[in-house]
Amino acid sequence: MTDYETFRQKVRTLAEDNIPPMAMDLDLNDKFPREFVKQMADAGLMGLPYETEYEGAGADVKSYAIAVEELSRVDGGIGVILSAHTSLGTYPIAHFGNEEQKRKYLPDIASGRKLAAFGLTEENAGSDAGGTETTAVKDGDDYILNGRKIFITNAPEADTYVVFASTDPAKGTRGISAFIVEKDMPGFTFSKPYDKMGIRSSCTAELQFDNVRVPKENLLGLEGQGFKIAMATLDGGRIGIAAQALGIAQGAYEDALAYAKERVQFGAPIGMNQGISFKLADMATKLEAARLLVYQAAELKQASKPYSKEAAMAKMYASDIALEVCNDALQIFGGSGYLKGMGVERRYRDAKITTIYEGTNEIQRVVIASHILGKMKK
Ligand code: CAA
Repeated sequence: MTDYETFRQKVRTLAEDNIPPMAMDLDLNDKFPREFVKQMADAGLMGLPYETEYEGAGADVKSYAIAVEELSRVDGGIGVILSAHTSLGTYPIAHFGNEEQKRKYLPDIASGRKLAAFGLTEENAGSDAGGTETTAVKDGDDYILNGRKIFITNAPEADTYVVFASTDPAKGTRGISAFIVEKDMPGFTFSKPYDKMGIRSSCTAELQFDNVRVPKENLLGLEGQGFKIAMATLDGGRIGIAAQALGIAQGAYEDALAYAKERVQFGAPIGMNQGISFKLADMATKLEAARLLVYQAAELKQASKPYSKEAAMAKMYASDIALEVCNDALQIFGGSGYLKGMGVERRYRDAKITTIYEGTNEIQRVVIASHILGKMKK
């Protein structure tokens, strides 16, 4: 049995020893923490749930969730670098790749020598991911990719991208296929990274495909299977984002709790006021509930049981409460929390994206509702 608390402590130490001195610089100056990503690789964090045969750590999904949680407790941007790499960039290759693809790509990404990313979203295909307009046309032994992907986490830093393109537009979602695309393939270029509200230590950019020739060996699964690969991948990705939201909120809560014990007003620590102590009680309860949902989804995935609904619930709940907890934490800090440098202002901005990406929380409700209601007739 995995000793989760020992593992948590190991990631916590790595995060606490290294991230705080650079967190403000990364955030203010939109810097990508390359050196720290290397440290995560050295610590064996970049391929936690993947087999050792492919240079993964051979750990489980819950350990991966704990790692994202602990990194995000200190810096939400760093949490999503690991999450997008592990559950979006690596999973489709590990799960849907053939032996040759796994041998070629997995060792580099599961060991963290290379960084991975996932290219699904487009200007006209956000929540409606099936609206993919990027095309892949068969030409001899290659497919030729044309189109543009937006909001891609880990771009342009990542080396290996799983990209979704339509091989048969007439077939809608059943005409979408998944490809492994390498950064240096001719015609594959990137936009400047976005200037984001939060998670600024992670990078996010657009992918541009201009007649990119991708060998047919890089087709993941079968032609037309891409949408299902994307949906199955996002089910797992949502556990990562739920863990990220949980970690961001946990960091804000711990800081607010310490401040409530130290800050004296009217001759006593502000935590003695019910207005503050009840807030903290609610925050602690929400965090515990979110943690149970996140670990439940991780355990179901690990046990190969259905977990799509539980992952959506975890992502939706953890991100909704992350916003509430960060808001309450900032309120407890008062005016000083509104300033840059206290951490709570950054966490408040970092938390917002967790209700939006990897499926907005409205889409999570669509997923949950479809599971609990089943198919209904008009
Ligand atoms: N696993 C496997 N297959 C699935 C599935 C799942 N979880 N969900 C749906 N499918 C299959 C269906 O069974 C169906 O198969 P058939 O064609 O055989 O019938 C097919 O996929 C189409 O399903 P739907 O009709 O339900 O599809 P839809 O077009 O109505 O879309 C949706 C459903 C849930 C709204 C989906 O589009 C969705 O999840 N949208 C959100 C997209 C999203 O999360 N984007 C995030 C981008 S990545 C990101 O944000 C990363 C980052 O920055 C960190």
